[in-house]
Amino acid sequence: MKGIIYYYSGSGNTELACRYIAGKVKNASFKLCNIAGIDRHDPNKYDIVGFATWADFMGAPQLFHSFVGEIESQGEKPAFIFNTFGAVSGNTLRDMENAVKAKGFNVIRGHSLHTPENYPPSIKRGMGFAKSPGKRDIKKFDAFIAGLETDIKELRENRTVKQTKIKLGLSNSIMPKLPRTQARKDMGEKFVDGTLCNECGICVKVCPYNAVELSPKPVFDMSACYGCWACYNHCPEQAIFTKKIRGIGHYPRPIEQLATKLKP
Ligand SMILES: Cc1cc2nc3c(=O)[nH]c(=O)nc-3n(C[C@H](O)[C@H](O)[C@H](O)COP(=O)(O)O)c2cc1C
Ligand code: SF4
Ligand code: SF4
Repeated sequence: MKGIIYYYSGSGNTELACRYIAGKVKNASFKLCNIAGIDRHDPNKYDIVGFATWADFMGAPQLFHSFVGEIESQGEKPAFIFNTFGAVSGNTLRDMENAVKAKGFNVIRGHSLHTPENYPPSIKRGMGFAKSPGKRDIKKFDAFIAGLETDIKELRENRTVKQTKIKLGLSNSIMPKLPRTQARKDMGEKFVDGTLCNECGICVKVCPYNAVELSPKPVFDMSACYGCWACYNHCPEQAIFTKKIRGIGHYPRPIEQLATKLKP
C-alpha cells in the first residue's frame, strides 16, 4: 500500500515526527512531501494520505489551508491528520479535519503531539517545553501509530474504515478560533541589524509566503507575511528583530532531546 504525508514544518519538529510515523508503519510505505515550495500535489496516486502541520495560534497555518484548498476533491480517500504543538493545540486538529473533509477525504484518525516551542516570545518567557514530549505523550503517539497500522491492514483487506470524529479534549475545544492573520499582527514589524546581516538570503529562502526580498538587505512585505518567525529563527547572524524581541529564543531546528526521542 502506498501513502503520502504532506507536511509543513517551520523548524523541523513536525517533519521529525512524520519521519517517525513513516518509519514505524510497516504495512504501507510513506513518501514525505514538504508542502512549502511545491507546485504540484497529486494525492490520486496514493492509497492513503497524511496531512501534518503545527499549531499556529491554535489553528492550522494559512499555508496548510492554501495547500488543501488547491487539492482536487477526493472520493472518500482515507486520510489521517497530525499536528505538533508547543503549549496548547487548541482548534488545530479540528481546523485540519474540517479542511481535509471539505475535500472529500475520509478522515480515519488524528493526533496532536506536544513538542518543544519554536515560538521565540514563548521561549523568551521560559516556556520552551524543551522536555516535551514526555513518556506519556510518546506512549499516546505510539498508540496513534499502532491504530493507524490496524486501519491500514483493514484497508489492505478491502475493508472500509469508518470516518472518525476527532476528539480534542475539553481544554482545547474551549479555545477561541483566532483569525489566520493573528500571528502576523502579534509579530508586527520586522527590522534588520545592518551591521550583522551578511545578505546571505536564507530569510528569503525559508519564508513560505514569499514575503521577503533582498535589496540588498531584506525587505519585508507585511501584507504577505503570516508571522511564522521562520526568518527570525533561521537567520544565522540573528540579525532580524521585532519591537518586542531581539537576539533571544531562536529555534531553527529540533533540539537534540527531541531528535533522540523521535528516532524512527
Ligand atoms: C507563529 C507561531 C505560532 C504558534 N502557535 C502555537 C499555538 O497556538 N499553540 C501551541 O501549542 N504552539 C504554538 N506554536 C509552537 C509550534 O506549534 C510548535 O513548536 C511546533 O512543534 C513547531 O513545529 P515545526 O518545528 O514543525 O515548525 C507556535 C509557533 C509559532 C512560530
Ligand atoms: S538570513 Fe539574516 S544574515 Fe541572511 S540575509 Fe537574512 S537577515 Fe541577512
Ligand atoms: S517574513 Fe518572516 S515571519 Fe513573515 S512569513 Fe516570511 S518568514 Fe514568516
